[in-house]
Amino acid sequence: MKIKVAPSILSADFSRLGEELKRARLAGADLIHVDVMDGHFVPNITIGPVVVKSMRRATDLILDVHLMIQDPVKYLDDFIEAGSDMITAHIETINLRQARLIAARLKEKKVKFGISLNPATPLSAIKPVLGLVDFVLVMSVNPGFAGQSFIPGAVDKVRRLRQVFSKDIAVDGGINSFTGESVKRVGANILVAGSYIFGSKNIKEAINSLR
Ligand code: DX5
Ligand code: ZN
Repeated sequence: MKIKVAPSILSADFSRLGEELKRARLAGADLIHVDVMDGHFVPNITIGPVVVKSMRRATDLILDVHLMIQDPVKYLDDFIEAGSDMITAHIETINLRQARLIAARLKEKKVKFGISLNPATPLSAIKPVLGLVDFVLVMSVNPGFAGQSFIPGAVDKVRRLRQVFSKDIAVDGGINSFTGESVKRVGANILVAGSYIFGSKNIKEAINSLR
């Protein structure tokens, strides 16, 4: 599978969002990962649909919107209308009925559906929804902040998931060239990275080192 690199815009300079998007595109980003946090599901607060809408106008890159929010169903249409290409909800925040609802709505709008799980959540929790989603986003840190250390348990999770799931597997949190290699080796094909990419002097080199 082709490896895709998704810089997380959370580690960019928000006062120059348009330029940062351009910089990421020129450096070879495949997707732009957008971290949405509500201060309830995670302790931090970031951005909402208004900013996603501005980003949509500023780039033609795929917008991969990661909803770390308590009620993804409530805000789903807002993020669809803002121009998201991919939307991820957390399994900790939805039941099977809601997952079916989200899947149907996203399919209708031609937006890809991802399911994410926290480091402490077992793989068995997402088994019932695997047939509904286009990709899985495996968290390798506890969601909430950029710049945390990779939790190694994610490697085994990816390995076991790859045995039963043939679509895209993304890994998010603490990804650099070393941790990235460890998850690629066991079947991950999308690497999300914030501080590693935007914190480096040469973001093109950083992106290439992940690929
Ligand atoms: C964590 C976010 C991640 C984060 C990644 O809550 O979901 O996408 O921004 O940042 P790094 O790569 O610095 O861990
Ligand atoms: Zn994320």
